[in-house]
Amino acid sequence: MNKRKHPKRRRKHLGFIKLILTIIFIILLIYLFKLGANTMFKKDDTNTKNDNNEQEVVNKKEEDKEEEKYTKEEKEQLEKLDYVNEKIDYFKWENIDRYIKYKEKNPTIDNKKIVLYVNIGIDNNFYTNTDTSPDQHTNTVLVNKYYYVGEKYVPKNLVSIDSKYQSGGKKLTREAVEAFNKMASAAKEEGYTIRAVSTYRSYSYQNTLYNNYANRDGYENADTYSARPGYSEHQTGLAVDVDNAKISYTSFGQTKEFAWMKENAHKYGYILRYTKENEFITGYMNEPWHYRYVGVEIATKMKNENISSYEEYYFMYLDK
Ligand code: DAL
Ligand code: ZN
Repeated sequence: MNKRKHPKRRRKHLGFIKLILTIIFIILLIYLFKLGANTMFKKDDTNTKNDNNEQEVVNKKEEDKEEEKYTKEEKEQLEKLDYVNEKIDYFKWENIDRYIKYKEKNPTIDNKKIVLYVNIGIDNNFYTNTDTSPDQHTNTVLVNKYYYVGEKYVPKNLVSIDSKYQSGGKKLTREAVEAFNKMASAAKEEGYTIRAVSTYRSYSYQNTLYNNYANRDGYENADTYSARPGYSEHQTGLAVDVDNAKISYTSFGQTKEFAWMKENAHKYGYILRYTKENEFITGYMNEPWHYRYVGVEIATKMKNENISSYEEYYFMYLDK
């Protein structure tokens, strides 16, 4: 008898072996895949750890570099100011001794303010250590008891305010006039009267005014409400005193027009310049009637950030 298997049965047998081999192959594949994935994740994990270590090393190096950046004396100086001031944008190394002195005199004032106030100059008495105004002939010119425009300064584009909103021949720079007209007109539409009663003043006019006040009240008193000639914002053509055409400008603070200005002046680029709150910076008593044109962007930012004086704004954002 032929012992060889029947060809049909042999094919069946081979098919069975193939099936087993395929299953084994698939199981092997799955196993290898899992093994691969595990190794990969483990690798990632190690990488993360390595990355962290590297970051720590970088940080440490930067700290060391920071330390090396200063001399021993500088480090001692920074320590006196709790080491934080150097990180303030407007920190100036050239003022370090003044910061330390001012901090010693005013230990309760926080360091950011120490730096800001000293940069403004309030560690010096008013009208001492004076300098010429920065940003002359622009909307950001700074004029106060430390910065003067001097005798010869006359603004370039002086034009008259709309006669409806002023008391005779009052001029400011063109841009300040356009903004003032819009502001007074908007107020009028809501039933309020804003009228310009004092605007651009020449050096010689401010001189007469200041001396008259000084003769009447004494220089010390006059200094609390009148600028010395060359030091008045009115000489820039960007400052305006207002009333409501009913009562004296000195009572403007009690009027509903003042309340309107508080809410709206910034939309036209004007800021209230002298308040009780900022008197220690400006050296002037509260003047609810005196507004300064700085442009909409700055006026709005000051309002939103609750910055109480133009000096603070200037030395936070504009000082170079
Ligand atoms: N009254 C303000 C301070 C001036 O004289 O300019
Ligand atoms: Zn004024």
